[in-house]
Amino acid sequence: MTVIKADVVIIGSGLASLMVADILSVTKNVIIITKSNVTDSNSLLAQGGIAAAISGDDDWRDHFFDTIRAGCYHNDETMTEFLVRQGPSVIDSLIEKGIDFDRCKDKSYALGKEGAHGRRRILHSGGDATGKELVMKLLARVKENTTIIEHEYAIDLLIQNGTCIGVYTKNSEQSKSTYIAPFIILATGGIGQLYEVTSNSEQATGDGIAMAFRAGAAIADMEFVQFHPTMLVKSSKGIGLVSEAVRGEGARIVTEKGDFLMAGKHPLEDLAPRDVVARAINEHLCKNGLLYLDISNIEHFTKRFPSIAAICEKANIDLHDNRIPIAPGAHFMMGGVVTNEKGETSIPGLYAVGEVARTGVHGANRLASNSLLECVVFATEIANEILQKQQFSSIFVPVMEEEGTRKIGHLPSELEIKEVMTKCVGIVRTRQSLKEALSWFTTYRFAMLHWKNINITIEQQKICNMITVGYLITLAAWERTESRGGHYRTDHPHSLERKWKHKTIYFSGASEKPYVSAKCIEKLSV
Ligand code: SIN
Repeated sequence: MTVIKADVVIIGSGLASLMVADILSVTKNVIIITKSNVTDSNSLLAQGGIAAAISGDDDWRDHFFDTIRAGCYHNDETMTEFLVRQGPSVIDSLIEKGIDFDRCKDKSYALGKEGAHGRRRILHSGGDATGKELVMKLLARVKENTTIIEHEYAIDLLIQNGTCIGVYTKNSEQSKSTYIAPFIILATGGIGQLYEVTSNSEQATGDGIAMAFRAGAAIADMEFVQFHPTMLVKSSKGIGLVSEAVRGEGARIVTEKGDFLMAGKHPLEDLAPRDVVARAINEHLCKNGLLYLDISNIEHFTKRFPSIAAICEKANIDLHDNRIPIAPGAHFMMGGVVTNEKGETSIPGLYAVGEVARTGVHGANRLASNSLLECVVFATEIANEILQKQQFSSIFVPVMEEEGTRKIGHLPSELEIKEVMTKCVGIVRTRQSLKEALSWFTTYRFAMLHWKNINITIEQQKICNMITVGYLITLAAWERTESRGGHYRTDHPHSLERKWKHKTIYFSGASEKPYVSAKCIEKLSV
């Protein structure tokens, strides 16, 4: 087993990872480890932009209230305020780093509108290729000073005396390495691949959450999974995302007969919060109806949305018909590894940033285009925190876990996990469906535990991670006996009303246990 030391090890290579590396790699020895290619991430796929209150008639308070209304008042107020207040300054810092945001003819920034935003405040790049612009520009900056290890899978965190001091990895030849650093940062992204239809990259299998869980970190809000209402779907297969910005420019969701689906369902109609639109679409599709995005209102569609036009062309959708077939797909995990504003988790030495982290800014349902903002804001905080901390070179001597010859028990296929999650823990959940999923996951209890002396392949590890995350989502959904944002139960269709600070608004849920901890594993029976 090779042992490699560094100042900072980042697992994952999306926007959050590259932002941290960009700030730290000038003075620190930074290693990025990714299980795929460095450009293979959800960030690169992001069509939506970055929300920030930068226009003269906007204010961080308006952005704040839009964020917590969309989040169904489950947000952490302090963290949310911090996020939106930082918006304008992080946009300036991105511009300084060379990011080009789209401009109008008069050279002012072209601000787009997306669901649940009270005004135009979304900056885009390349029309619908904001993620690509950010990732490629930052990558070009960090490449020189950062060691990037591709195609290496982080198996488990290395914890000694309650502190995270490293990570074990395996490459595709099953050869093992141990990376040791005083700062280990999870930037592993989301969990979309647990569902049959998803907008996420193939790498989004929840590895960071599963690793942190096995290490004993606090995990929260796992029941809140956001389904994007408008994915281009053909023969029940998700082909790609059709950004909410398309509806922001006037597209409408229509039935086969041309009726507007969202008329009368919410005051914001097609631009209602994502959970509301996704449920309305799901209900219609469950009755065997078909739905389309009518884009006839949008001039120069191909020029404004080049990436979406390319996805449509690939799927043989003729844009001259002005109709794109749509269905919802798993898009974003609001929960994850609990962090504070410095990105610290409950385990010293372990940080989390981006979608893997539960900062509390998204509440029960993320506001559109707040995710890239979250990546940039909290990545900057983590990097500054690390710069300030005195760095101790590790005094720990890692105890190498010998891999034995014992084989892991029978595991389900990825497809089986997706089927269970989509059917039982999807857009609409019932008591019965959750019970069914819980008992299914319980069968694979052994896959969720931290084991020793087991010889496991990368593929098996991925399945174990997916089982762990699927179980955590199901358990959290079972325990929350109300509906809120991305979590909807037919047996508890309403949100519980609570006093929240001095205002009477809805507050976080039924379960008084905010965290799902490793102890849950002990009580796996339903
Ligand atoms: C979209 O473009 O609709 C997705 C953007 C986001 O999830 O914020």
